Amino acid sequence: MFTGKKILLGITASIAAYKSILIARLLVKAGAEVKVIMTPAARDFVSPLVLSTLTNNKVLIELSEQESWSNHVMLGRWADVLLIAPLSCNTLAKMAHGQCDNLLLAAYLSATCPVVIAPAMDEDMWKHPSTQKNISTLKDYGNTLIDVETGELASGLHGEGRMAEPETIVAFIEEFFFRQTALKNKKALVTAGPTYEPLDPVRFVGNHSSGKMGFALAEALYEQGADVTVVAGPVQQTKKYKGIRIIKVNTAEEMYNACINLHPSMDIEIMAAAVADYKPAEIASEKIKKNKAEFQLNLTKTKDILATFGSEKTNGQFLVGFALETENERANALEKLKRKNADMIILNSLKDTNAGFGYDTNKVSVFFTDESAVEIQLASKKEVANKIVELIIQRTHA
Ligand code: CTP
Repeated sequence: MFTGKKILLGITASIAAYKSILIARLLVKAGAEVKVIMTPAARDFVSPLVLSTLTNNKVLIELSEQESWSNHVMLGRWADVLLIAPLSCNTLAKMAHGQCDNLLLAAYLSATCPVVIAPAMDEDMWKHPSTQKNISTLKDYGNTLIDVETGELASGLHGEGRMAEPETIVAFIEEFFFRQTALKNKKALVTAGPTYEPLDPVRFVGNHSSGKMGFALAEALYEQGADVTVVAGPVQQTKKYKGIRIIKVNTAEEMYNACINLHPSMDIEIMAAAVADYKPAEIASEKIKKNKAEFQLNLTKTKDILATFGSEKTNGQFLVGFALETENERANALEKLKRKNADMIILNSLKDTNAGFGYDTNKVSVFFTDESAVEIQLASKKEVANKIVELIIQRTHA
């Protein structure tokens, strides 16, 4: 989402300035053009050389250098966002009072773009009434605050005042400013991960699904403006954006119950979870002992969420399922599409290396009700998710 976006990164004198290196790196990696302005005192905390190398742009520090003048007015007009991270107590106070004794402050005062501040300081400084007053003044001026976090501080003390982590700051900017609108006002439900079907208090029947594809799809839908809920089985994945809602479940039955309640209000439903097709007919109340030479396990069918949604689909709902086939892939995928009354089936092939369960990459074929198909070549799960969401947008807007 940062492709073509211009970010002016302001760095002030704070121990947290070392994290600005990672912020610059993450922004550049995500496709943004980044220019850095440092206050003169920030040079003691982080090297301009590292930042200019990472951003491919000269780091700006002084208002004027050897007869040339840094055009602070144009910097604020060039940027889509001015992000000041870390914002020290001193620069915060100067910003609140309109002082202008360095290039960063001049750029701030003349910026026509939105300004985001990520303060960093020790807890006592953070909680001081003058700091809190300055923060509230800056908010009144229309600046956006990325709140401090609680944790270990540079002083060695533990408390409030840590700058938010670079990943949090970058995701915040992405979410706040650059969310697209193709799926605005659309509600989307994604199932993700495996389900665990208990056998006894310590054992379960499960599978290797990581939930990566489901979470990537949730992110891609969210980036296009959709209101997204993920119903996730037991996974390690965490959400990238605050605005994504996560409902955690363990079993197929819990997943079914969570989904069925949400179904009537959904516009787009993507069933990416590897739901157990069968579950143990009985759950032993005590741990099963290994006192028999053989052990039979009776399994009963779970409820199929995708098929239920397909049979209850109302006009305008767009339903997507996944298929994993080992033979007659195209025919089986099309048959599954029809049988479950889906609008799109995404076929994972077990024959593709580096694709599917657990990998960070995937390669899929997408089938539609008119029997047309689109191949998505091997790419990161996020890129594959972006392409799938593009196809959904095309189909739902057609
Ligand atoms: N699915 C579901 N609920 C279930 C089982 C599967 O929602 N209880 C969804 C999966 O999330 C996925 C699709 O159905 O989108 C996968 O179906 P799969 O289990 O492969 O298909 P089956 O109809 O069980 O077909 P087969 O047994 O032929 O593989």
